[in-house]
Amino acid sequence: MVQINSNYLKLKAGYLFPEISRRVNAFSEANPQASLIRLGIGDVTEPLPQACCQAMKDAVDEMENSSGFHGYGPEQGYPWLREAIAKNDFQARGCQISADEIFVSDGSKCDSSNILDILGEDNQIAVTDPVYPVYVDSNVMSGRTGDADQAGQYEGLSYIPLNSENGFEAELPLEPVDLIYLCFPNNPTGAVASREHLAKWVNYANQNNALILFDAAYEAFIQDPLLPHSIFEIDGSRNCAIEFRSFSKKAGFTGTRCAYTVIPKSLQGSTSNGTEIDLWTLWNRRQSTKFNGVSYIVQRGAEAVYSLSGQKQTEKLVSFYMENASIIRKELSSAGYTVFGGEHAPYVWIEAPKGQSSWQFFDFLLQKANVVGTPGSGFGTAGEGYFRLSAFNSRENVEEAMQRIISF
Ligand code: MLT
Repeated sequence: MVQINSNYLKLKAGYLFPEISRRVNAFSEANPQASLIRLGIGDVTEPLPQACCQAMKDAVDEMENSSGFHGYGPEQGYPWLREAIAKNDFQARGCQISADEIFVSDGSKCDSSNILDILGEDNQIAVTDPVYPVYVDSNVMSGRTGDADQAGQYEGLSYIPLNSENGFEAELPLEPVDLIYLCFPNNPTGAVASREHLAKWVNYANQNNALILFDAAYEAFIQDPLLPHSIFEIDGSRNCAIEFRSFSKKAGFTGTRCAYTVIPKSLQGSTSNGTEIDLWTLWNRRQSTKFNGVSYIVQRGAEAVYSLSGQKQTEKLVSFYMENASIIRKELSSAGYTVFGGEHAPYVWIEAPKGQSSWQFFDFLLQKANVVGTPGSGFGTAGEGYFRLSAFNSRENVEEAMQRIISF
């Protein structure tokens, strides 16, 4: 009989969001009259920017003719999209990133998991706690951890706590680590990293020959112009960091699928005998073998994000969700909840009422208020007692959800 990858058996329960859906579906079946408001998974609700739709429609028209038809594109993405990204997202902010260091993909979730393909199995890995579960689960699946303990923490991973005592700042690890996952603006806490905070990590990584995997999927939600949007705004980062970016939340592409990963050509890793190899070449090899690129139509849609009208429309989308986040913060803090995040991120991180675990509060809100959120413990042990609300919904639903929650 075929043998399975038994690392999968180490995974704790289901992936967080399918587990939430399972509970929500069971509740809906038992209570078909309940009108649920979903502030759980961070999935956008507003239509795509008009500029992106128009660009995709034009691309469909091109595909109708043999002169405009496109088959397989470059695995790394079309040069015009890579150039628009490098120019607008990096060079305009003073980062020395060139178009050929951008790899267009169908999602940051996939990229942040797939990156393990080009990294050795013996690296000591650090994640924050709480954390986006994909970073942990992809390490478990690929056999880079031992079993989970009672608290749900995996043997072999270093956990860096993010909590109100440390201001949700990722402190440097006490034990040496080779690979560090950082996500800012943070999912799930909504915390943001200052320039000094990132510089501390870049110095650490350079001094310890470590690699930072920096997830900046939520950078567009930063409101303070002094905060960095990219790790590449920090000196020395070209030698120690990879960055993941996405059009999902910024431009409503969760269903359309387009993202990108930045790997500087100067970034080196080492073989077990100490020979230095550049990671760009390995990722390029990996993508050329295992990936056939994002569709021409979708890449044209993503390119339109950088047009004048596209920029205005995406800014409007982001402001709309940030206004939702501010309503959530305001209503819940007035009702006595302790609230974090939601100022530079579309997530609000709240303390569950005293004495309630994250899942108890989840069930309470589902059953009493018919509001779906995400239990903090699903993001790690340190998330226990917390709860995440996403700002991705219509204004009407967000206002209604707040009224329902504060009425208890
Ligand atoms: C979340 O809710 O944490 C996100 O939607 C997950 C994701 O982007 O994959």
